[in-house]
Amino acid sequence: ARLVVLVSGSGTNLQALLDAAADPAYGARVVAVGADRDCTGLRRAEAAGIPTFVRRVRDHATREEWDEALAADVAAHTPDLVVSAGFMKIVGARYLARFAGRTVNTHPALLPSFPGAHGVRDALAHGVKVTGCTVHFVDEGVDAGPIIAQRAVDVREDDDESALHERIKEAERDMLVDAVGRLARDGYRIEGRKVLIP
Ligand code: GRF
Repeated sequence: ARLVVLVSGSGTNLQALLDAAADPAYGARVVAVGADRDCTGLRRAEAAGIPTFVRRVRDHATREEWDEALAADVAAHTPDLVVSAGFMKIVGARYLARFAGRTVNTHPALLPSFPGAHGVRDALAHGVKVTGCTVHFVDEGVDAGPIIAQRAVDVREDDDESALHERIKEAERDMLVDAVGRLARDGYRIEGRKVLIP
């Protein structure tokens, strides 16, 4: 399967996918990496010899035009799956018209708890004892689509946001690599809110 990965940050989830895909038995390979800004994730793609693109919101008159341009960038690489791996932008209707049901996102909390840009901070502030990470299909909501996989991570008494996020990210990379590999190798069906992988 062909993967396009979208990033905005350090790209450690992208790196985990690149490392897994080095084995042909993984069943998926990263054919392009896109970003909404310059970021370390792009450097990782370049180091792996993978084509990159940058699509900045501020270069477009409206968010709809950006959304449409992003969809065209992604479509140019004819992906089977798109992985939003720390991509800090909400995609809109024009993107989803082409890639709904084929775009997965990873989130550092156990959805539907703590959606949004501060899932780790919000979980910590709430005082939960267990949090984790979720990989799900992207739909029109924020961190809202059908759930593919989750991992639990215990909160420690002395955790701050960065220590907890680091432990979540360890679980997250493993979860993402496993989930994307299964979707790519085994195929899947989305029935309502349920994702069925044979
Ligand atoms: C991940 O925890 C992702 O869920 C969150 O930001 C982090 C991205 O990390 N939204 P990286 O860029 O893959 O290292």
